[in-house]
Amino acid sequence: GEDLTREQQEHILLAAEALVKEKLERDSSGHDWWHIYRVVQTTKRIAAQEGADTFVCELAALLHDVVDEKLNADPAAAQRELDAWLAASGTPAAAVDHVLEIISTMSFKGGARPPMRTLEGKVVQDADRLDAIGAVGISRVFAYSGWKGRPIHDPSVTAREHMTEAEYRAGNDTAINHFYEKLLKLKELMNTAYARQLADERHRFMEQYLGQFYAEWEGER
Ligand code: ADP
Ligand code: NI
Repeated sequence: GEDLTREQQEHILLAAEALVKEKLERDSSGHDWWHIYRVVQTTKRIAAQEGADTFVCELAALLHDVVDEKLNADPAAAQRELDAWLAASGTPAAAVDHVLEIISTMSFKGGARPPMRTLEGKVVQDADRLDAIGAVGISRVFAYSGWKGRPIHDPSVTAREHMTEAEYRAGNDTAINHFYEKLLKLKELMNTAYARQLADERHRFMEQYLGQFYAEWEGER
């Protein structure tokens, strides 16, 4: 966004914020506006540390979930709406392309997920992943799990990797199991050094949480 003044950038970011708020108001899947808010806040912090383009980072962070298939009955239509909105937003074409590339890589489904090509993409992906770990991440697992009607914990449920595909699909999954399936692996997936630093503290907090959880479960603490 080097062609724009900071004032023009702020104007576009505010419009994007309004768009996202309007879209997520109708959502009930746990992708609420406050997830976007947190990802934007963390994005700004990492972008400053890593020397990334803050306008592209903030715009991508704001828009990163609007074409998600969990939020849209018709993701292709949502993508066309986003393309049209960006084209009319006053964002320079190069920044539009960059933001769209970040969003499509982040929401890539199936197979081998392509790595983020640019620093800005790495920053936004790190911020999104950071929101899945730590104290907030713990809250989100239980919120999602409850929404799905899954139990908190079941000691007889083995780790995901020891489940058959049929058992897993049958819903033999718990909130606690999701820590092993995904959350405890995210620290290693951080792209940037600064996000890795933030992830370390959040990771330790989850480990501490799980230790306390099992001790309480057995009446040991
Ligand atoms: P994103 O915001 O990146 O699209 P996801 O849609 O993958 O994230 O997940 C949203 C939140 O729901 C995350 O915090 C994640 O940990 C949680 N979640 C996703 N799948 C599960 C699951 N099987 N059990 C518990 N929590 C889950
Ligand atoms: Ni997200």
